[in-house]
Amino acid sequence: MAKILGIGNATLDIILTVASYPREDDEVRCIDRAIRRGGNAANTLVVLGQLGHACSWAGVLVDNADGRFIQDDLETHGVNTRSCRLVETGSVPVSSILLNAGTGSRTIVHYRDLPEYSFADFRSLVLRSMDWLHFEGRNVEALQAMFHWSREHYPSIPRSLEIEKPHPGIEGLFSLADILLFSKTYAGSRGYADPVELLQSVHRHYPGADLFCTWGENGAVSLDRGGRSTRQAASIPPRLVDTLGAGDTFNAGVIAGYLAQRDTATVLRQACALAGEKCGRSGFDDLALSGFSGP
Ligand code: ADP
Ligand code: FRU
Repeated sequence: MAKILGIGNATLDIILTVASYPREDDEVRCIDRAIRRGGNAANTLVVLGQLGHACSWAGVLVDNADGRFIQDDLETHGVNTRSCRLVETGSVPVSSILLNAGTGSRTIVHYRDLPEYSFADFRSLVLRSMDWLHFEGRNVEALQAMFHWSREHYPSIPRSLEIEKPHPGIEGLFSLADILLFSKTYAGSRGYADPVELLQSVHRHYPGADLFCTWGENGAVSLDRGGRSTRQAASIPPRLVDTLGAGDTFNAGVIAGYLAQRDTATVLRQACALAGEKCGRSGFDDLALSGFSGP
């Protein structure tokens, strides 16, 4: 069991399941409605908790009923929330999500009115006993300070960075992480139609990290710091149920794989298997745990 700190978002996800995706200006009924705790870093930690790790979340919440709902859910899943900052006003981040029952696809409309977790918040944490730090790629300036500070004071703790969206200046963080986890959205924003080409370009400029990029139903690719690339097909579940948080689950699989001292290609294969398993079920509970223990 490793101690993992995740820094990033926790959200309130309002999920409406529809039989098929509506047209603009339609009025349709949903076939299911759920309110769940979400957020990239939070989802990743909940999966890592199931894989047997001791996880803590660092982020911002509002001191209201929604904030308590999110905090309770994390604690129920064994994720420690003592490092979170509670603010008095504003709203927790809310995602309104249409989940297409026909394809498993998810369409997210996100609302945000909350300060970001600051470097001052991060600096007050006791990191000494941590085995892994995972950062959600947002709030770039503060993250840069967190990376530099943690590297100076705790150089041996491995650090992963998720790059899902193209935030201005985020490339400035690439040389600071050990593992970079890219999304298809980020690759598209940089004009790449092939994930290996994105990773080769990143590797040329920042050769010190192991790189991953997910590609939805087409699986994912990796490129290790030695320059070896691997393509992995997706692991297709018997029935596609819910792809919300597939990327967050993939990231949990990668972190767990490295903690179990797997090589990069094995990490990639197991992360795709875990993400595919997640796509076959609703939410993040009861995922298959095979293949993740021991070095
Ligand atoms: P995100 O959730 O960030 O949009 P992706 O859609 O790229 O991320 O999915 C992450 C991983 O989840 C993929 O690399 C793949 O392994 C798995 N995955 C995503 N969609 C499917 C699918 N339809 N069938 C099987 N696996 C999937
Ligand atoms: C899924 C997710 C949702 C959240 C949204 C935030 O990856 O973390 O749970 O609402 O993304 O961008």
